[in-house]
Amino acid sequence: MELQKPFFRDTWVEINLDNVAYNIIQLKKHLPDDVSVFVAVKANAYGHGDIQVARTAIESGAEGLAVAFLDEAIRLRKHGITSPILVLGATRPKDANIAIEHNITLTVFSMDWLLTAEDYVGEDQELKLHIKCDTGMGRVGVRSQSELEDIERKISQSKSFMLEGVFTHFATSDEVDDDYVQEQLKRFNWLLQVLKSKPKYIHTANSGASLRFPESYFNTVRFGIAMYGLSPSKEMVPLLPYPLKEVLSLHTRVVHVKKLDAGEKISYGATYETEKDEWIITLPIGYADGWLRGLQGQEVLINGFRAPIVGRVCMDQCMVKVPYEVEVGTKVTLIGKQGDECISVDEIAERLDTINYEIACLLSPRVPRIYFKENEPIEVVNQLLASSDFINNDIE
Ligand SMILES: Cc1ncc(COP(=O)(O)O)c(C=O)c1O
Repeated sequence: MELQKPFFRDTWVEINLDNVAYNIIQLKKHLPDDVSVFVAVKANAYGHGDIQVARTAIESGAEGLAVAFLDEAIRLRKHGITSPILVLGATRPKDANIAIEHNITLTVFSMDWLLTAEDYVGEDQELKLHIKCDTGMGRVGVRSQSELEDIERKISQSKSFMLEGVFTHFATSDEVDDDYVQEQLKRFNWLLQVLKSKPKYIHTANSGASLRFPESYFNTVRFGIAMYGLSPSKEMVPLLPYPLKEVLSLHTRVVHVKKLDAGEKISYGATYETEKDEWIITLPIGYADGWLRGLQGQEVLINGFRAPIVGRVCMDQCMVKVPYEVEVGTKVTLIGKQGDECISVDEIAERLDTINYEIACLLSPRVPRIYFKENEPIEVVNQLLASSDFINNDIE
């Protein structure tokens, strides 16, 4: 791949946008025709790149986008994305007018919020809202029929607001046992009974539910982790209705090669000691890139074989033991495929005793992202050299 030097350290993430498209097209085939798809592109599309993933998702049939915070939504708008955007999390009521300015839908879950936000909505403005119900996640949301009734009434009586949706979120849709999902659905259906009119979007399903529970679809799903080709959990892998294609891979290149005698130490704490003559290579990636210290002992792929990280992972570098001399500049794959070997995001998550979501989100903006379509690199994003987007706003 020959690109005009968009970055100067040989460590990069590759994002396969065709796999994003595939994962969404498969979902659309799996869902009834009248169910819309909103895709979760919060947290920079789980580390994959919000703008590129959002555009691909919309081109592949997603109707809307879901983010956690207003800033994430504004960023999408600033990059020319015009599809519906829902902010799932809390927004300050005094920022209601900012949301309206950018045609962004907010989430409401308290009467006090509505009463305050109303003062910030201009004369001829209207704020689109989804009401969040807490049916057992215990995070944000209305829990009683009376709260929901009051909020719906207030919205319908105010010319500042428009009720566009109502939703809830599952706590256990990635588990084999679905008792708690059904319990949450029961509570959601009970809450819905008091609504005087049904809004345009009614949604509960995240990836886990979208792939398994038709009774959770209503008319919209919110699809996140499975769009990135990752299973919502390990135990859900055998239950997936179609194979997912992983979107992200992580690569670097050898920057140093040396042969050490037996008894030499490697890295901070001198925790690794060579047993005999050993070839040790140095890779320019470390915990500041999201390649965490817990990955000591994890294998990487080089020339199609697996080789272990030895000694502690440093902030910007780590060392690997290889069975023979390799050349400086040799490509090393930390997540992804080389030949017949594959290191999945799930393998890294398991080693770190965490979930695949966290691994993708942790890959720091310091690592450039290269976007591929039809096996060709189409765009490189290097946050370090990108111009600043900073708006000089009041900071509280
Ligand atoms: C409210 C809400 N909806 C949908 C999603 C997407 O979930 P998933 O990535 O499991 O599909 C999330 C992600 O955490 C979320 O918080």
